[in-house]
Amino acid sequence: MKLLVTGGCGFIGSHFLRQILRDTDYAVTNLDALTYAGRPGNCADFEADPKYEFVRGSITNKDLVEQLVSKADAIVNFAAESHVDNSIAHPEIFVETNVLGTQVLLDAARKFEIKKFLQISTDEVYGDLPLDSDEKFTEHSELKPSSPYSASKAAADMLCIAAHRTFGQPILISRCSNNFGTHQLPEKLMPLTISRALQDEKIPVYGDGLNVRDWIHVLDHNTATLAILENGKPGEIYNVGANNEVSNIDLVKILLRILGKPESLIEFVADRPGHDRRYAIDSSKIQNQLGWKPVHTDFEKELTEMVEWFKTHNT
Ligand SMILES: NC(=O)c1ccc[n+]([C@@H]2O[C@H](COP(=O)([O-])OP(=O)(O)OC[C@H]3O[C@@H](n4cnc5c(N)ncnc54)[C@H](O)[C@@H]3O)[C@@H](O)[C@H]2O)c1
Repeated sequence: MKLLVTGGCGFIGSHFLRQILRDTDYAVTNLDALTYAGRPGNCADFEADPKYEFVRGSITNKDLVEQLVSKADAIVNFAAESHVDNSIAHPEIFVETNVLGTQVLLDAARKFEIKKFLQISTDEVYGDLPLDSDEKFTEHSELKPSSPYSASKAAADMLCIAAHRTFGQPILISRCSNNFGTHQLPEKLMPLTISRALQDEKIPVYGDGLNVRDWIHVLDHNTATLAILENGKPGEIYNVGANNEVSNIDLVKILLRILGKPESLIEFVADRPGHDRRYAIDSSKIQNQLGWKPVHTDFEKELTEMVEWFKTHNT
């Protein structure tokens, strides 16, 4: 199979490429615009693989996208503007990349009769849940995005669903919870906490810090991605999560303990506007139908290994 992967120089996409090149015989083209979030260094260890090709460019560039899609069997679309805070400051680029870019890919996929199109979405399209409930997001939960980021991802999901319904395109959608692992940019909570703590700098925590996230290791997200790509049913949505809810303040305290740094580094700051309170994912569908399950579930052990990586890699 010839795969076109977009956004493969980012955090999750680069882990996916490494896995695909190691575990399958797929040939892969990585289309990445190399925005501030795209790092060629994330792909350094596999860039010489003969099955791998890198093309710098945007998913909004129709001519380039058509040229690459014409040679592919399947598309996995990771490319996105991904940081909620940036979407609050500059929503337009989120619409351009996440919505228009996805439509450009969908149009090319239809034109060249691509066999599978996997849209990497997010649980954030569902909005949030109250802290004092056991409710979890299922694939049938209402879409109630809170930020321009999650709204743009929800819009892209809807365009994918429409492409399946209207044109019969073989669309698959994954909606994963918060990822952690190596190679993530320090704009996100875990790498930010680690890099600040290593320099004995204050660590900003939004609001009361009680916001809950459902954390999954990036390598588990990517085994789910491959399972959906290979065995998912066209037109279906799959939630992906590891049943690992932790509040932001508890997470920062765990990381500080692993790093041997004092909790006095924590500094509560004004809350993010529209800040989602709690995410929780019901991933029974992918577990039951595709036989996937997370394996990197010893949170303390995985965090300790990740912290060691960040100590020796200046991000
Ligand atoms: N990080 C998470 O916890 C998480 C959770 C669920 C879903 N997701 C989704 O997974 C995907 C990847 O997330 P990430 O955390 O790796 O993001 P990231 O910000 O680390 O990487 C995004 C990549 O996309 C590239 N890109 C941006 N605009 C582009 C464009 N117009 N054309 C081509 N490439 C472009 C960037 O250069 C970068 O390499 C996103 O679609 C995101 O919505 C992320």
